[in-house]
Amino acid sequence: MERSLVLIKPDAMEKRSAGAIISRLEGRGLKLVAIKMLHMDKALATRHYDIHIGKPFFTDLVKYITSTPIIAIVFEGEGAVEVIRKAMGATDPAKAEPGTIRKDFGSDIQHNAVHGSDSVKSAQKEIKLFFTQDEIF
Ligand code: RTP
Ligand code: MG
Repeated sequence: MERSLVLIKPDAMEKRSAGAIISRLEGRGLKLVAIKMLHMDKALATRHYDIHIGKPFFTDLVKYITSTPIIAIVFEGEGAVEVIRKAMGATDPAKAEPGTIRKDFGSDIQHNAVHGSDSVKSAQKEIKLFFTQDEIF
C-alpha cells in the first residue's frame, strides 16, 4: 500500500491546529501507521529539503522548520501521496482552494501548516529520514 510523509509544521503547532489537520487527513480514509514529535535539527532539515539547497528561500526554510518541535506522520492508503497533496492545497495558502488544509490553517507561503511528500519516490526517501522500520506499524 502507498505511503506518504506528512509534517505538521511549526506555525500549525503554535496555532494548536495539529489535531484538526490529522483529523482532516484521517477523514480522507488515510491510515496513520507512524507518528512522532521531534525538534528537527539543521542536518535533518537540509536532508529533508535537499532539492531546495541553493534556492533564495532555503536558509529561511531551514530556520523556520527547525524553530519549534513538529509532528512527523506516515499515512498509508490508496494513492496516499496524491490524496494528501490534494487535501493540502497549493504551497501558498492565498492560492489554495477553499476547504484545503493550507487555506484553512496556513498563513503565508512559508508558514503553510503542513508538508506532504510530492511523489512516491520522495515519500520513500523522506520516511526513512524520520522513521526506522520498526517504528512503522
Ligand atoms: P512542502 O515540500 O513543504 O510540502 O511544500 P511544497 O511541496 O508545496 O513546496 P516546495 O516547493 O517543496 O517548497 C518547500 C517549502 O519551502 C517554503 N517556500 N518558501 N518564500 C518562498 O518563496 C518559498 N517557496 C517555498 C514553503 O514552506 C514550502 O512549503
Ligand atoms: Mg515540496
